[in-house]
Amino acid sequence: MTLILDEVTAASPETSPACSLENYLALPDRSMDERIAAARQRLGSTAVLLGHHYQRDEVVRFADFTGDSYKLCRAAASSGADFIVFCGVHFMAESADVLARPGQQVILPDLNAGCSMADMAEISQVESCWETLEHLGLAGETIPITYINSAASIKAFCGEHGGLVCTSSNARAALEWAFARGRRVLFLPDQHLGRNTGYAMQIPLNEMAVWDPWALAGGQSAERLASCRILLWKGHCSVHQRFLPSHVDQLRAQYPGIQVIVHPECRYEVCQVSDALGSTERIISLVAEAPAGSTFAIGTEIHLVNRLARRFAPEGKKIVSLDPTGCLCTTMFRISPQHLAWALENLAEGRVVNRIQVRPNIKQWARVALDRMLEI
Ligand code: 13P
Ligand code: SF4
Repeated sequence: MTLILDEVTAASPETSPACSLENYLALPDRSMDERIAAARQRLGSTAVLLGHHYQRDEVVRFADFTGDSYKLCRAAASSGADFIVFCGVHFMAESADVLARPGQQVILPDLNAGCSMADMAEISQVESCWETLEHLGLAGETIPITYINSAASIKAFCGEHGGLVCTSSNARAALEWAFARGRRVLFLPDQHLGRNTGYAMQIPLNEMAVWDPWALAGGQSAERLASCRILLWKGHCSVHQRFLPSHVDQLRAQYPGIQVIVHPECRYEVCQVSDALGSTERIISLVAEAPAGSTFAIGTEIHLVNRLARRFAPEGKKIVSLDPTGCLCTTMFRISPQHLAWALENLAEGRVVNRIQVRPNIKQWARVALDRMLEI
């Protein structure tokens, strides 16, 4: 299978019928365990498996390293393995390929594991936003920052225009870096992370404007664009945007003393009434460091919440999802044990399937933007 995307080539060689993905998808999850473990063993140190915290248990249990986007980015950048098998979503595998050493290959077990937030900013839209800023004489004093949840072409745009990448664990440091170099930040593509981080840095909401890529001139007047300090792209995570302040009220009424921890991709109104915000890695640390018997409501993806609930139950810690119906990231869920077994067994047979390769011209500037993040 060969798939040509805007900035990425993901190619798989022809496989024999026995190794075709359809044959794996017909089998039950549990039957994959031994096959994954055996293929993993055959690959030895030639492969490293990275697993994001939102991955399913049946997949993440095979990861050599788990982490938030930042930690996994670092793990990819420092890995000596020939193959980096990324159990996460597309933008994570792209970032790993940008940071990979020559000869290293990055594999995403299911190419359909995307991110709906990353899809909310297209490079042509970002370029037209920038043209408007240029036309108004504002681009020179604006630093573009993109959340890592974005296409490699947008990271490259930021690198080329004096900006950088951030994750949820270093967004504040990235904004500080940017404000040392310009008076305004264009923050892509998650308006909530940009707003929550800016507000925590004492930037008032009336100094932030939202750029709507579907509206004429972003839906903003020239005066507003000139006066704002943070221009927030109108993007969001549909998983995290589901959490509401009413969920916080309900759980506080139900469990007096409960601590509410949410991911900064949640709405401003939710973050304001929560006890703490943090990346997935930080959420885990906050729960781990809390005294036995603590109770938490967590506003993030349901696989992580359920895993924390099981892990900390023996310490008497009670953990519930902030939204009682749970919030599933359907694209993270696409990495199934069957996809992982298929990718690993093919790799063990010398066939690289679902390789993610960022085009060299994009890679060069995306690397600049990622390196700036890794340096701050
Ligand atoms: P973290 O970097 O906090 O793991 O977040 C990644 C993500 O996609 C959250 O939705
Ligand atoms: Fe993207 Fe949201 Fe899923 Fe994170 S949880 S990968 S931001 S869709």
